[in-house]
Amino acid sequence: MAESIPAVVQAFDHGSAEFAEWTPLLWDPIGAATVEAAPPRPGGRVLDVCCGSGSSAIPAARAVGVDGLVDAVDLARELLDQGVRRAEGLPQLRFHHADASRWTSVDGLPYDRVQCVFGVFFLPDMDAAAAHLVGLLRPGGAFAVTTWRQGSVDDVVGPLVQALTERTGRTLDRPASAQRAARVDTDEKLAGWLRSLGLGEVGVRLVERDIPLTADSAWSFVMGSGIRAALDGLDTPVVAAIHARYRELMASTTTLSARALVGTGIR
Ligand SMILES: C[S@@+](CC[C@H](N)C(=O)[O-])C[C@H]1O[C@@H](n2cnc3c(N)ncnc32)[C@H](O)[C@@H]1O
Repeated sequence: MAESIPAVVQAFDHGSAEFAEWTPLLWDPIGAATVEAAPPRPGGRVLDVCCGSGSSAIPAARAVGVDGLVDAVDLARELLDQGVRRAEGLPQLRFHHADASRWTSVDGLPYDRVQCVFGVFFLPDMDAAAAHLVGLLRPGGAFAVTTWRQGSVDDVVGPLVQALTERTGRTLDRPASAQRAARVDTDEKLAGWLRSLGLGEVGVRLVERDIPLTADSAWSFVMGSGIRAALDGLDTPVVAAIHARYRELMASTTTLSARALVGTGIR
C-alpha cells in the first residue's frame, strides 16, 4: 500500500531547493556537531531518521567507514535524492524512503547508534516513535536527538506568521509539531525526556551558529522548512503579498542566531 505523506513532509519536498541553500550554512554544520557529540565507531551500525539530505548521515557514514553501515530514513523524496547525490563514494550509506516512526532494520540486527536531527518533533506520536527507535538500539547503544533551543527560530518564523495573518486575515494555529518541539527545547526538558525513554548517561550540548541573514535568505529558510505548509493552497498573488510583507518585516534582521541542543543517552 502506498505510504500516505504528511503535509509537513510535502512542504519539505516542495521546498527542497530552498532547503538546499541552507545545507552548507546550517544543516551540515549542525549535523556534523551531532555526530561529533558521540561519534560512532569504525565498523558501527547507525540509523539516521528524518535524515533530510544526509547532513548528519554523511558524517556518520565517514565515521563508520566502509566496514560500517548507515541507514538514512526520510519520507521527502526530493531531499533523499539530494542525499544520494551528496553521498557519492560512501557505499556504506543507504537512503530509504520510509516513515521514521515505523522503521525496522532491513537485516533485523540492532544499531549501535540512532540519531535524529531536527526531526523528532515532526513525528505525530513523538514519545511512542522515540521509544520504538530506542528499541532498535543494542544495549549500550547511543541515542542522539538534536532539537532547537527555545526561541531559536522565532526571529524568522514569527514575521512569516505575522505576514500571513495580515495578508489573509487568517490566524495560524500553533502547529502540533511546534508544541512537541516545545517539550524538548531546553537542556532540562531534553535531558528529562531522554531519561523518560529509559536512557542513561544523558547529556545535552549546546551548538551555536550565527548566520548572516538577508530578507531573501530568511525567506529561503522558511520556504525550506515545515512552516511552508501554512502557505499550501494559497493563490500565487496572496503568496506574493505575504512574501512582500515578510521582506518588510525582515528588513532590519541581519543574523539568525541558531541555537541547537544535541541530547545523547545510552540504552
Ligand atoms: C528540518 S528537516 C531535518 C533534516 C535533516 N535531519 C537535517 O538536519 O538536515 C526534518 C525532516 O524530517 C522529515 N520527516 C518528517 N516526518 C517524517 C517521518 N514521519 N518519517 C521520516 N521523515 C520525516 C522531513 O521530511 C524532513 O526531511
